[in-house]
Amino acid sequence: MHTQPILVIGKNGKTGARVESRLTAKGLSTRAVSRSTLPSFEWEDPDSWMPALSGTRAAYVTFQPDLAVPSAEATIRTFIQRAVEAGLEHVVLLSGRGEDGALRAESILQSSGLAWNVVRASWFAQNFSESFMLEGILSGHLALPAGPVLEPFIDVDDIADVAVAALTRPDLRNRVFEVTGPRALTFAQCVEEISNAVGYRIEYSAISVDNFVGEMREQGAPEDMQWLMRELFSVVLDGRNSRVMDGVEEALGRPATDFSSFIKKAITSGVWDRGAARQQT
Ligand SMILES: NC(=O)c1ccc[n+]([C@@H]2O[C@H](COP(=O)([O-])OP(=O)(O)OC[C@H]3O[C@@H](n4cnc5c(N)ncnc54)[C@H](OP(=O)(O)O)[C@@H]3O)[C@@H](O)[C@H]2O)c1
Repeated sequence: MHTQPILVIGKNGKTGARVESRLTAKGLSTRAVSRSTLPSFEWEDPDSWMPALSGTRAAYVTFQPDLAVPSAEATIRTFIQRAVEAGLEHVVLLSGRGEDGALRAESILQSSGLAWNVVRASWFAQNFSESFMLEGILSGHLALPAGPVLEPFIDVDDIADVAVAALTRPDLRNRVFEVTGPRALTFAQCVEEISNAVGYRIEYSAISVDNFVGEMREQGAPEDMQWLMRELFSVVLDGRNSRVMDGVEEALGRPATDFSSFIKKAITSGVWDRGAARQQT
């Protein structure tokens, strides 16, 4: 029986929280970290990494803000070196489809000498319920620089299941799991399905990337986030990732969760309940 914990980087994140709770439910010891934990973990402060890595045997790694940012390659290279020095056996990296920076980070891990897995994910369905698209859903109008492009949104519960399988099943080691949902949808189709299910009207507008980034600037978003959103919407969402892949089935032997099931779970959680959201503000 292993006594050393599994490090989860991104304790409060959409996938990190789910990975931690699944590992804990299996009776496995974890050390989940982010900037607000003790020890704290800050991607921009390499001095914070060793206290988190030290004494762990494996890690689930979510990078912030995104492996597409130009500085990610150097950061990931140094981080993987530290993981080797700290004596980890195995690293599972959450990656994004269609990003050159993500491919560079994956290849650093793959040539590190560590046992590895890459979970290369499509856009998350939970961006509509737990992230930057939630506000638009609740307001009844979501405006994004995405037109008719098809994206097979993945349920992050599936990502967590795949990551945990990779962390706990030696037979799955040293493989890339390219994980997507089972259906490719446009953003407008997603919003229509959500609107029909929640019972209030939500409009979708495709706007230009310049307008979208301009609004972010006016609202005081940092320059690097403006750059990232421009990159994600104009490069990553150019149709290169529209194909449905079977990484969930490969890792878990079951199909990926459909967007309609994600919608049911989100409704049950109350996150799209406008009355509850108003009370919280
Ligand atoms: N969203 C998508 O559609 C999508 C698709 C494919 C891949 N990805 C990748 O998924 C990764 C994000 O994973 P996720 O969605 O599970 O996480 P997430 O929900 O974005 O994680 C957010 C948490 O990360 C922590 N954090 C933020 N900045 C940090 C920093 N500088 N150093 C350390 N921790 C920091 C924050 O917690 P504290 O405030 O406590 O620090 C925050 O609560 C990214 O690498 C992204 O590229 C996302």
